[in-house]
Formats: sequence, C-alpha cells, structure tokens
Amino acid sequence: MINIGLLGCGTVGSGVVELLQKNKETIAQRTGDTIALKKVLEKDKDRCRALGISDDMLADDLNDILNDADINIVVELIGGIEPAFTYIMKAMQAGKHVVTANKDLIAVKGKELFDTAEENRIDFYFEASVAGGIPIVYPLKQSLAANRIQEVIGILNGTTNYILTKMSREGQEFSQVLAEAQQLGYAESDPTADVEGLDAARKIAILSSIAFNSRTTLDDVYVEGITSITPTDIKYARELGYVIKLLAIAKEDEEGRVQARVHPAFLPLGHPLAAVNDVFNAVFVRGDAVGEVMHFGRGAGKMPTASAVVGDIIEIGRNLQYQSNARIGCTCYETKTFLGIQELQAKYYIRMMVKDRPGVLAGIASVFGNNNVSIASVLQKTSEADMAELILITHKVREQDLQDSLTVFKGMNIVGAINNVIRLEGSDAE
Ligand code: NDP
Ligand code: HSE
Repeated sequence: MINIGLLGCGTVGSGVVELLQKNKETIAQRTGDTIALKKVLEKDKDRCRALGISDDMLADDLNDILNDADINIVVELIGGIEPAFTYIMKAMQAGKHVVTANKDLIAVKGKELFDTAEENRIDFYFEASVAGGIPIVYPLKQSLAANRIQEVIGILNGTTNYILTKMSREGQEFSQVLAEAQQLGYAESDPTADVEGLDAARKIAILSSIAFNSRTTLDDVYVEGITSITPTDIKYARELGYVIKLLAIAKEDEEGRVQARVHPAFLPLGHPLAAVNDVFNAVFVRGDAVGEVMHFGRGAGKMPTASAVVGDIIEIGRNLQYQSNARIGCTCYETKTFLGIQELQAKYYIRMMVKDRPGVLAGIASVFGNNNVSIASVLQKTSEADMAELILITHKVREQDLQDSLTVFKGMNIVGAINNVIRLEGSDAE
C-alpha cells in the first residue's frame, strides 16, 4: 500500500482526491500497488469533509503526517513560498517522497529543494508546476534526454492567452477583456502575476533549468507582460502576417550561453504556436536529433493539473516497488552564462507617431543608421493633422542598438510618441 499525505485541498488538491478515487482500480493496476490517501492537512476542514474525507484523516499539523511511518509520499498543494518550502524540506528530511505543483517555489528555491532531495535519496516530482496537465518536465528529462536542446518556446499562461485571443477576435481593449475575464472567473481578482508575465517567467525558469542543465532562477529571466498591447498592434500584426502571443522563451546559443525571456511577440501565422488559442498552453521544443516537437493542452484547472500530480504519484509508486527512487534527480550539472536582454538579436516592430512633413523619414532612418539598426520595411498608416503613424520592421538587430535609437527619438521634436515596440519571434525572425 502506498500512502499519501496531502497538503492543501483547494482546486488542485480536491482534483487529486477525486481522481485517486475515480480511477482507483486503473491506477492500482498501472502502479502495481494500491494508492491511498491517508492524511490531509488543510486550513478549511469542511472543504475536506465535503469531499468525503473522514475526520480521522484530517491532520492537525504537519507532524501528524511526518510522524506517520506509513506515509510514503507527501503531495504539496497549498502553494506560495511559506510555509510550503518549510513543509517540503521537512517532508524530505523525514524521508518522504514529494510531489508538488508549486512553480513559484521551484523557480526561487529550486537548488535547496533538489539538494535536499538528493541528500535524502528521495523522489521530488513536479510535472504539474509547468503547463498544468501538459507533460513537459519529464519528457524533457527522459524522452528527449538524448538531444542537445536548442530552444524551448512556450505559451505558458492561460489567462494572458485568453485575453490576447479575445482582443484579437473582437478588437477589444486589454482592460475591457481583463474585466470580463475576471467576471467569468477566468482571471484572478489580482491578475498581476499573469498579465505582467511573472507566472510564465517562473515556468520558463523551470524549463530552462532542465533543458540546458543549468539552474535558471526567476532573476535570470527578462520579463515583460501584455498590458501595453493594443487592438491597433494586433490589427497591424495580422495585416503583416503575424499574431501577438505572450511567449516564454529559453534558448542556448552556439557558445553555450542561455537567454530566458518572457514578452509579447509577433509570431508568424504559420508557426505551430500561433494556432494555440483561448486558455490553452503549448510548449514548442527544438532538439538537435528530434527536430521540432510541440506539447499542447490545458495548462491549468482542477482535473488537468490533478492528472499531472497523480501521474507523478504513480511514478513514485512504481519506483517504490523496485526500490529505484531518486533515479532522476536534479539535472542542473552545469553553470552557464546568461545573456541579458540588451544582447538579444531580433527583428522588431515599432509603431510611432511622427510629424508628417518632408525630411522626417530621412531623420528617423539616419538615427537608426547611426545606431546600426537596419530597417526592413516602413509603412505610413494614418495621417492626422500634421502627424503620421509609422510602422517599422527592422532587420535582425541588437536590442541595445534599438534601445539607443529609441532614446534619441524621445528627444526629437519630429517624434510625437513611440507607441509600441514588440519583438518578432519564429523562423522568419531568425
Ligand atoms: P488553492 O488556493 O485553490 O488551494 C490551496 C489550499 O491549501 C486551500 O484550500 C488553502 O486554504 C490551503 N492552504 C493554504 N495554506 C495552508 C496551510 N498553511 N496549511 C493548510 N492548508 C493550507 O490553490 P490551487 O489548488 O489552485 O493551487 C495549488 C498549487 O498548484 C499552487 O502551487 C499552484 O501554483 C499550483 N497550480 C495550480 C493550478 C490551477 O489550475 N489551480 C495549475 C498549475 C499549478 P485557504 O483557501 O483557506 O487558504
Ligand atoms: N494562472 C495560470 C494561468 C495558471 O493563467 O495559466 C496557473 O499556473
């Protein structure tokens, strides 16, 4: 019998309880042993009772779980940094295997957690922490382990993908779609971590660490959210053959340097990620042997996330039977250099208002030229009073050079405003 101590019985925790019950026999057959919920630690005990959890299974504190020698696996689903971090560390030190969905914690405390797991020879599994129900952590660690991974590009946040999809379909403003998404319960009442790109940054930090075998923390990831994206930018993107997506990107260059970033990007309509809409997530991986692989599905929600958590529990259950735990531990065996965003080489979309009079374009072109920024195309979209809206696409340039040009523009009286600057990503941006 494999016994679980569950911490947190909220959205995902209740899904785990239901799934262990619903597919009990199949899970037992696939594991080769019965998996049973033994104790639950949850602030709101009525929430547990409503799921059919009896009072004798309700833990008063963590020690009830740590001191129960029959509990082999602790499943942490309370979220946040503390007390989740302390609870997991104590569970590992007590020799319990651990499953978590807590990306916030892994993205900042990964090293301590993996070191402690290794010292105690226990399994530490976290498939649900990135892209909910989509298998990507263990495919990278196992099925794709023969590859040198070149890039991982994800749509890793359902809330922002839903907002951008709706803005794109209905031409609505960001704030209007966000308010509607909150009313419908798709977006959290405090949407900051989602719309400012932090949630996606935590997830790409985890994937980058695995893909490039070098610890990537949240501080290593450049982060920009979607609050500045307007229906105008989305419309122009479409006219030019692109869609705007919030991408989480991690790449390793030929010199072994890693760059991890989250920002809105123009993605060619033909790119596999361009068709990922609404709340769906996807992760696109390029490996030197496998080529392109894409994983697609639901990145959040009670049952999709529970699916990944219970998958981890089953894997640990199998390991327990063959006493083969701690086979796959931390894969960060190297320390690579991270490139800052100013070193990025990319194509850029720039939308700006300039005076509509002779010599203005020449002035703009000369500033770009002086800063090594080569222009690929220029469109003059609208003219109002004596102002014109310019849409510029650059060739591949260094971000610092582009930023230097923008700084010069801000001091020029022919430039009314720089409305938006968005990076291009995808094969034709190479
Ligand atoms: P919820 O807030 O729904 O559930 C957390 C539960 O834990 C709540 O019932 C909460 O009680 C309880 N809790 C919090 N602190 C403690 C504590 N110290 N002791 C006992 N119980 C506690 O969160 P989710 O289920 O949505 O998320 C759980 C984890 O899964 C998080 O790490 C999240 O990032 C991750 N995740 C969630 C996804 C989703 O779709 N929801 C998707 C992928 C990952 P109370 O409400 O009273 O505070
Ligand atoms: N808030 C996240 C999203 C789900 O919108 O995708 C949990 O990671």
